[in-house]
Amino acid sequence: MVTTWWKHGIIYQVYPRSFLDTNGDGIGDLQGIVRSLDYLTWLGVDALWVSPIFPSPMADFGYDISDYCSISATFGQLADFDRLVTEAHRRHVKVILDLVPNHTSDRHPWFVDSRSSRASSKRDWYIWRDGQPDGPPNNWMSNFGGPAWEWDETTHQFYYHAFLKEQPDLNWRNPEVRMAMQAVMRFWLDHGVDGFRIDGLWHLIKDASFRDNPVNAGYGPGQPDINRFLQVHSADQPEIADLVAELRAVVDAYADRVLIGEIYLPLQRLVAYYGKDLEGVHLPFNFQLLFTAWNAPALASLIEEYERALPVGAWPNWVLGNHDQKRVATRVGDAQARIAAMLLLTLRGTPTLYYGDELGMTNVPIPPDAVQDSWEKNEPGLGLGRDPQRTPMQWSKSVHAGFTDQTPWLPVGANYRQCNVDEEKGDPGSMLILYRSLIALRRRMPALAGGAYRAVPLGENILAYERVEGDQRLLIALNLDSDAKPVRLPSWAGTDVLLSTRTVKPASVSMPFVLHADEGVVIGSETDVEQAIEGAS
Ligand code: GLC
Ligand code: CA
Repeated sequence: MVTTWWKHGIIYQVYPRSFLDTNGDGIGDLQGIVRSLDYLTWLGVDALWVSPIFPSPMADFGYDISDYCSISATFGQLADFDRLVTEAHRRHVKVILDLVPNHTSDRHPWFVDSRSSRASSKRDWYIWRDGQPDGPPNNWMSNFGGPAWEWDETTHQFYYHAFLKEQPDLNWRNPEVRMAMQAVMRFWLDHGVDGFRIDGLWHLIKDASFRDNPVNAGYGPGQPDINRFLQVHSADQPEIADLVAELRAVVDAYADRVLIGEIYLPLQRLVAYYGKDLEGVHLPFNFQLLFTAWNAPALASLIEEYERALPVGAWPNWVLGNHDQKRVATRVGDAQARIAAMLLLTLRGTPTLYYGDELGMTNVPIPPDAVQDSWEKNEPGLGLGRDPQRTPMQWSKSVHAGFTDQTPWLPVGANYRQCNVDEEKGDPGSMLILYRSLIALRRRMPALAGGAYRAVPLGENILAYERVEGDQRLLIALNLDSDAKPVRLPSWAGTDVLLSTRTVKPASVSMPFVLHADEGVVIGSETDVEQAIEGAS
């Protein structure tokens, strides 16, 4: 049985600006998260990952940090953060912070110093280069559009920024930078945090000789600038492995902490971030579900490929949504979003879910004059902006969905009168009750939390698999189509539907067995659940 918290636990991402506003400035805050803890424990999650809450000019809403060891006044004070950790821990909920080591804000004192003169003691903390006669040092592009090099008038050199020009990249080849960031980690670990989600981990170290990236033959109109070239030299360099191991050593000096890496790379490269002898991050975020075609064969093969790619002893994980990607209900539709929930919470590996997805929140169209995200401003009209998936959490049917009593920083979804915590709590057919039931089942059933995964062929466009631990053997069957399908269940299948996406009440399996349109089921036997409940009490 899996006992490590970050293996059996469920991670819930809070985007603090959008969670709950307690002081009427239209922006969520730390007190708001504290007040939401009872909801989150009711839901049943084990850990919160909180997106950046540090002082920041907010060019990239907190991912441009101007002071790593303090709290932004927008969100509260250090005392509020300490209270969040205490209150979360009191409820056995872990707190994971966002660590942004690749870049700082251009207003961070380190960068202000670095750009002040070529002789600055901080000059080498960032990436400064002379240009070529006809322009920037090389062809590297920014992830948010345009060249990744910014000309500095004072010192007549370019600095590199993989993201906004307000986010200059640190030079991780400089040992002083590494020491400084490790000190930041210790500062928060000493404040009791249970781990970090490391932002942009695959970007940390770049080619030592800054070679041009090769042209991407697949680039075409409608694609973002970053796709013009293949990121061969600007990211994911071999030297990254040692850096990650260094960061890991920092958390290993503390008991029971976790390191999660944000890494957008193909599978074979992604799993390298577990590190040699698993001395890398504990969980390199697995984003496959964000980009897959939504049908049973595609899902079955990506699960299989992922399982096969995992190094021996490495623990899997699955992400269904985050603040950078379209919401799941918008990607796959409302009906299949229920299938996605069941998939996430019955797969082998730590699930991460994004705030509001448990309600079925969808992307919210943002009128042009309300756009906040710089990426949308830099590359408009391509649908790249991330505001639509960052709109206020929908708590109730009262004004502004109970998120704030003033104007919220982003508009509230039009569906908030039905799609909110209050309404859904009282509706056994709601997405929220489905999520809560799935989480409860996963917590009770060792086969779901830690059991082996095996694919089961059940029928066309049905994704089916078993999860097995000891003598507990569960069958999960997900109908990816919107028509009903008669199914011949394997002889070993249990006699009870423990949970269906149509009804969370257990019922005995009826014969002949039919999967309804867009229906997913977990089949096992009631006695397993009863034993698990007794065992836990
Ligand atoms: C990560 C964050 C994203 C941010 C970027 C730059 O991808 O998730 O929100 O804009 O890094 O820090
Ligand atoms: Ca506020």
